[in-house]
Amino acid sequence: MPTKVIAVANQKGGVGKTTTSVNLSACIAALGRRVLLFDLDPQANATSGVGLPKTEGASAYRPLLGEGALLDKIQNTAFERLEVIPSEVDLCGLDVELARADNHLQRVAVALQPVLAAQRFDLILVDCPPSLGVLTLNALAAADGVLVPLQCEYYALEGISMLNRVMAQLHDTGVNSRLELIGVAMTMFDGRTRLSPQVVGEVREHFGDRVFETMIPRNTRLAEAPSFGKPIIHYDKYSAGAAAYELLAQELLGRLKV
Ligand SMILES: Nc1ncnc2c1ncn2[C@@H]1O[C@H](COP(=O)(O)OP(=O)(O)OP(=O)(O)O)[C@@H](O)[C@H]1O
Ligand SMILES: [Mg+2]
Repeated sequence: MPTKVIAVANQKGGVGKTTTSVNLSACIAALGRRVLLFDLDPQANATSGVGLPKTEGASAYRPLLGEGALLDKIQNTAFERLEVIPSEVDLCGLDVELARADNHLQRVAVALQPVLAAQRFDLILVDCPPSLGVLTLNALAAADGVLVPLQCEYYALEGISMLNRVMAQLHDTGVNSRLELIGVAMTMFDGRTRLSPQVVGEVREHFGDRVFETMIPRNTRLAEAPSFGKPIIHYDKYSAGAAAYELLAQELLGRLKV
């Protein structure tokens, strides 16, 4: 079974990309799959979310510039079957440095090739920064599918038309003709408000069955877990947030058939 690469992307900030990347990775690892969490956001929130420090020189920065191997950047976490390529602020510089370089959209795809060939992972989840800059485009160019977290709020759909257009462009120009929308995950759902179900309805009208059945509730335990460097299932296994991400993980595996 070839390794599947999924980009977790939405150019809007604070919609739950990192929370989703970290917790899906951990839940999928707990379900017995080998998972690589690739932190491609200079904010490095996914890195600290799985308990790793921000370390100078530890990120994908150099391999993406063609110096050294991405395989050497993979680190263990404290959690079985979950490994990580950490990030740190140096990734910020890539936007500028790659802008004029050859093949600047394919750097992640090229760097990942030996990782895919090694067949060490069933799934690679890439946590993207909140922009449609070079880093996100690289993740999209390397991915089999995109998972879009959408926050249950007004304007949830606003950012998505841009992302859709970029995906279509990558598809049509042959940069990545296999790229598909694997699913839309509704985050920070609050059933006590009228707004959340209303937004979900609107998003379902737009994306139909691409929207995951599982919705991630607003749950303070999910917001606390990163400060302990633990995914939710290792921080508070019995929380509503843990239950939701466990279900979402199963749904995603069902769609990916891995
Ligand atoms: N379901 C949830 N319930 C409660 N808080 C949440 C939930 N999901 C995310 N949060 C909190 O909302 C904030 C934004 O979430 P997160 O960092 O995952 O978003 P992001 O899209 O990765 O942000 P950025 O665009 O800055 O990378 C964080 O403080 C996080 O802890
Ligand atoms: Mg983030």
